[in-house]
Amino acid sequence: MQSWSSGIKRSGKRIGFVPTMGYLHRGHLSLVERSKNDNDYTVASIYVNPAQFGANEDFGKYPRDLGRDKELLIAAGCDVLFTPEDRSIYPSGYQTYVNAEQITKTLEGEFRPGHFRGVTTIVNILFNLVQPDSAYFGQKDAQQCAVIKAMADDLKIPVRIIVMPIVREEDGLAMSSRNKYLGASERSDALVLFRSLALAETLIKQGERDAKLLEEVIMSQLKKVKTASPDYVRIVNSRTFEEAEILKWGSEYFILIACRIGATRLIDNLLIRV
Ligand code: PAF
Repeated sequence: MQSWSSGIKRSGKRIGFVPTMGYLHRGHLSLVERSKNDNDYTVASIYVNPAQFGANEDFGKYPRDLGRDKELLIAAGCDVLFTPEDRSIYPSGYQTYVNAEQITKTLEGEFRPGHFRGVTTIVNILFNLVQPDSAYFGQKDAQQCAVIKAMADDLKIPVRIIVMPIVREEDGLAMSSRNKYLGASERSDALVLFRSLALAETLIKQGERDAKLLEEVIMSQLKKVKTASPDYVRIVNSRTFEEAEILKWGSEYFILIACRIGATRLIDNLLIRV
């Protein structure tokens, strides 16, 4: 991978990179499409990174279908698919981890200890292998995007991080490889995430500025659904991820939700400008 990329860079061409864990959906493909627009070559990677899963998480059962993913990437016009193996990413004796210290303390970082350390480590390794000019990530993992931007800034990695909007199913459910875990009735219960985000947006449009009150409204919507058990509902500054109290005119915020539907942990968010 590294020698292919070095050759391309020497010829002055631009490389766009879409890192994924596979089981691709239209959200991933929107990243490939944008990368193809921006660059001469697009590389996608598929690697289910063990370092970002906690001991009790779904690493073992994370959905995998390389054949289908390949077809989707070919149809999307992706130039290179990189599928490294554990033994080349983390050979025995591997000992180096990358950690963004502050922005990982809350939200996903709080509920999934060690998760972001695994993400920044693998993304750093992949950046070194693929050497992209630009890398593309989905806004559904809003905090992950901010963590990766912090890492790239702090470590002076010469890559542009591009964040693309959430792609949703027609009924509003945010696309996610983990949606596959949902049974039919859970699939409709899961719509409460988008519904409660949309309700909060309406209230903000009507003039509500109290972030804590909005969080409570969303939480009470989630709790109406029997299978839902929320980890958090939080409104944060879109850049710093600091908790908001009163929404200020001209500022941008994320409304973030993490909620289990049955055994499936889902996240969703909405970017709002007040
Ligand atoms: O968002 C994901 O799929 C993963 O966290 C990433 C960025 C590919 C790193 O493993």
